[in-house]
Amino acid sequence: MKAHKKIDFAELSVVWEFYEKNGLNASVANFIVNIIRSKVLVVGSGQGVFCSELIKAGFEVTGLEREQEMAVAALERRGMESVVIDFFDFLSPIRYETIVLSTGLIDDLTALDDQYLDSLLVHCKRLLASDGKLVIAFFNHTPWIDYAESLGLYDKPSRNQLLWDYRDDLSLGIKSLKKSSSSALKMEYYEGVLREHAKMIVNIGHMYNEKTGRNPRSFIGKYTGFYPYDLQDRSKSNLRCRIRANGFCLEKDLLFNAGDTGVFVCGC
Ligand SMILES: C[S@@+](CC[C@H](N)C(=O)[O-])C[C@H]1O[C@@H](n2cnc3c(N)ncnc32)[C@H](O)[C@@H]1O
Repeated sequence: MKAHKKIDFAELSVVWEFYEKNGLNASVANFIVNIIRSKVLVVGSGQGVFCSELIKAGFEVTGLEREQEMAVAALERRGMESVVIDFFDFLSPIRYETIVLSTGLIDDLTALDDQYLDSLLVHCKRLLASDGKLVIAFFNHTPWIDYAESLGLYDKPSRNQLLWDYRDDLSLGIKSLKKSSSSALKMEYYEGVLREHAKMIVNIGHMYNEKTGRNPRSFIGKYTGFYPYDLQDRSKSNLRCRIRANGFCLEKDLLFNAGDTGVFVCGC
């Protein structure tokens, strides 16, 4: 059973660009533009990668972001203004044609929490036009995550420190990681992904050091594990069930980014 820890987006904000290729990226936006209408509310707009794709495509977009650090970075990096607020506190006289719940709003635990899901979905209904669309994004459980978990990289981010310690010889670092992981699955297929992950951890360390002047080791140990957010099948089923129970119909059930990002498109 993996330990579950909420992601600290404010802390991760400094190195967020390394995480942006997953989740709601340009490829998801390219698909979504064909099925949505303005006005669009993006909840959990982060540093604006998804919102800015929609804006480029001509949509009228409001990005909501709870963490000040993420919103400041969205402005600095992409010139994108966000409304800094928790979604549950956001009220508006406007009814949106589209609401997008970003990866980060629903995780494997909250997807099993009917009370949380119901309050989230009821709040979306309140803010949506009567024929609006609700787009729900989430991280999806993949075989790569199983592999990463078996190496301890997922639920014990401190294992990533070992990759930083071996930054001058990553092959040796990976070897040592595998040696000290008793239950590592044999998944040759993911060797390349593991190498990319190791390089990413090292790059994160360098960027953190450049931006803060601090030694990145403890930051890596605390924050750079995999997303503890991926939805397992049973949590996805529960989410589908609550979507229907709250009067939405699930129109599309999609996967992006090699299966790592799930998207449910719901009508009212
Ligand atoms: C994975 S990030 C999304 C990144 C985004 N796709 C982008 O374009 O950069 C999820 C974001 O949702 C925000 N968030 C989580 N819960 C929220 C809430 N209740 N209200 C507003 N923002 C929230 C987090 O602070 C985080 O920045």
